[in-house]
Amino acid sequence: MADTLFITDNRTGKKIEIPIEHDTVRATDLRQLKVKDDDFGMMTYDPALMNTAAVKSRITFIDGDKGILRHRGYPIEQLAENSTSFLEVAYLVLFGELPNDKQRTDWRIKIRHHTIVHESIKKLMEAFRYDAHPMGMFISTIAALSTFYPEAKELNDPENRMTQICRLIAKVPTIAAFAYRHSKGAPYIYPDNELTYAGNFLNMMFRPSSKEYTINPVLERALTVLFILHIDHEQNCSTNVMRSVGSSHVDPYSAVAAAAAALWGPLHGGANEAVLHMLDEIGSVNKVPAFIKEVKEGKGKLMGFGHRVYKNYDPRAKVIKNLAYQVFNVTGKNPKLDIAIELERIALEDEYFVKRKLYPNVDFYSGLIYQAMGFPLDLFPVLFAIPRTAGWLAQWQEHVTDPEQKITRPRQIYLGYGERNWIPMDKRK
Ligand code: CMC
Repeated sequence: MADTLFITDNRTGKKIEIPIEHDTVRATDLRQLKVKDDDFGMMTYDPALMNTAAVKSRITFIDGDKGILRHRGYPIEQLAENSTSFLEVAYLVLFGELPNDKQRTDWRIKIRHHTIVHESIKKLMEAFRYDAHPMGMFISTIAALSTFYPEAKELNDPENRMTQICRLIAKVPTIAAFAYRHSKGAPYIYPDNELTYAGNFLNMMFRPSSKEYTINPVLERALTVLFILHIDHEQNCSTNVMRSVGSSHVDPYSAVAAAAAALWGPLHGGANEAVLHMLDEIGSVNKVPAFIKEVKEGKGKLMGFGHRVYKNYDPRAKVIKNLAYQVFNVTGKNPKLDIAIELERIALEDEYFVKRKLYPNVDFYSGLIYQAMGFPLDLFPVLFAIPRTAGWLAQWQEHVTDPEQKITRPRQIYLGYGERNWIPMDKRK
């Protein structure tokens, strides 16, 4: 049986046979279908890119129906359980293999070399208002980094690309912590390269300026796991932005800033913050049924539920739910946990949610942990962006080295006016 698709264009009677590869057909093969010779040819229409594969990738695999997520073939559950360091998983995602001992040490040294930011970046951040949203500060500061490293636009040099990748992975926790301390009016704490990726971040966040700060190993481990769980998620909204913006061959700092902006939206990485606002609004367990009723009547969404790809329990949410109990043993239970559990219980039994295959996603429980650990709500999207930077960069690297890729440029179906003549001001309605 040949892997081809026969199409008959009933407008003209023309028959074409086009190849099927990896269960897809090439949209450009349809261009042969024309009514007139000077027609552009047939296109596909796919708002929100629901059924369009725009890249070939070897990084992350998701089976949304089965609730499977793997990076470079390794199930997310195994990575979360066995990997003791975020940088090890970042190495895997970027280079395709788990590092051996020497590779892991060299990689750590490489990243640590870049953790500090230029003093002018610090001054730049001081210019933000005291109540600026940390994600706004994060996005702008990442964009500003491109002015510090003008050589970053030399994309054809693999060594140069790798330097920028290391710089970005190293600097995002520093910028995130500085954004937090700026909003507190607290002095910035510089990176401590003796600490782990997550430990260093906790130290920069929470160490009182003149005192020692002891990092709780359970919380450090929890943050490492949360970082691992958020590292990549194939072609989601922000990754698509990273690839699209990167396809213009702009420098990676500008592309990461754009991807982070996409992540900030409440339908994407901003959902973890929105979940906590929703739990506050509900207030108590006995108000959950009334809230669910309102959602079903179309008066809002159950934040942290539903996913474009997962039509099953998000595997990351399962790991996070278990992690929550370990964290609460140290911090005390987040009082909103009971509301969240009741929401989940009712939603998973309710026909509205069952029929639409709406399950908790990664954002449903992560915010409860972040809050219990002392992170303010508006820092939650930044906590998502820190580990996702490594994923964006792996996807960007794959994109800019893929000989099949070009500048991203979708088509449109134009439904506006045909040509018409200019109307002088005194004749306009
Ligand atoms: N609460 C209530 N109803 C929902 C929800 C929800 N959270 N999500 C989807 N639905 C309904 C939706 O109204 C629609 O119903 P109907 O068929 O009657 O019109 C149906 O389910 C299908 O939804 P959709 O909007 O077509 O699904 P989508 O694939 O376009 O949207 C989503 C996916 C994640 C944007 C959406 O589920 C949502 O807005 N969820 C809440 C926000 C959220 O938690 N986002 C985090 C996503 S995971 C982290 C990340 O990677 O960003």
